[in-house]
Amino acid sequence: MPAERIDGKAFAADMRAKAAEAARAFEAQAGRRAGLAVVLVGDDPASDVYVRSKVKTTMDAGMESFEHRLPETTGEDELLALVDSLNADDKVDGILVQLPLPRHLDSDRAVQRIDPDKDVDGLTVVNAGRLISGLPGIVPCTPMGCDLMISQQLGGDLSGKLALVIGRSNLFGKPMGQLLLQRNATVIQAHSRTADLPDLTRMADILVVAVGRPEMVKGDWVKPGAVVIDVGINRIPAPERGEGKTRLLGDVAYEEAAKAAAAITPVPGGVGPTTVAGLLLNTVKAAHRRAG
Ligand code: GUN
Repeated sequence: MPAERIDGKAFAADMRAKAAEAARAFEAQAGRRAGLAVVLVGDDPASDVYVRSKVKTTMDAGMESFEHRLPETTGEDELLALVDSLNADDKVDGILVQLPLPRHLDSDRAVQRIDPDKDVDGLTVVNAGRLISGLPGIVPCTPMGCDLMISQQLGGDLSGKLALVIGRSNLFGKPMGQLLLQRNATVIQAHSRTADLPDLTRMADILVVAVGRPEMVKGDWVKPGAVVIDVGINRIPAPERGEGKTRLLGDVAYEEAAKAAAAITPVPGGVGPTTVAGLLLNTVKAAHRRAG
């Protein structure tokens, strides 16, 4: 039987509806809208698209959006001063500094300057520490969405399941592994230096791939009946669609893998749409937490 194609668009719409409902409840209780500040430095076209989408989705969900666009030449002091002012602003519940920053700016310094209770990317060391310690905090948006998808497929308790996460970034791989561990899965954290990767993937009941290499995971790497979550977004040239055209490919060879898997996310239309929805959930959660 071919795998269930997990519909990320529908899943994200459901997450957005939940965020909008929580935003209405917050407004009724606090007498103001939950607010998200997005900081974009420079004019990277991909970041511009992401930021526009974040701003629109935030407003559509009934939240306030504060957009701060700074020129490419912005100095570190100026960026840190903006973060400080957003930390101090009571109308701002969530702060997101869009990455990557221009090369002359230190991303770590900027991100770590964010008040952990407003850190809706979940990237501060405080939130990373809270996650590892099992304390309430803010979890990065993309792993949060994947965790919700996996638990919808398999139930909340993953006892006895083997989960393999390929990738170990702070933004995705590490928090993803922690979330699966919290659901009692047995977790293997693989990465670019892992040996004999296909042998490991073939054991995985849950396979989460975030490596940024188009169709690296082949069909015969997938355990029959596995749930496969493809986090890769690889833009590759597609001359067959016309000159200069591109298309998106995941990290998993979808058609092959779908023959073995029980359920699998496509690219596009899988994990991607859930990321911004996760940001909304984190913002409204931060707002409720700050309001006590
Ligand atoms: N750039 C690409 N993805 C992200 C993200 O999730 N958060 C931030 N801050 N920047 C990004």
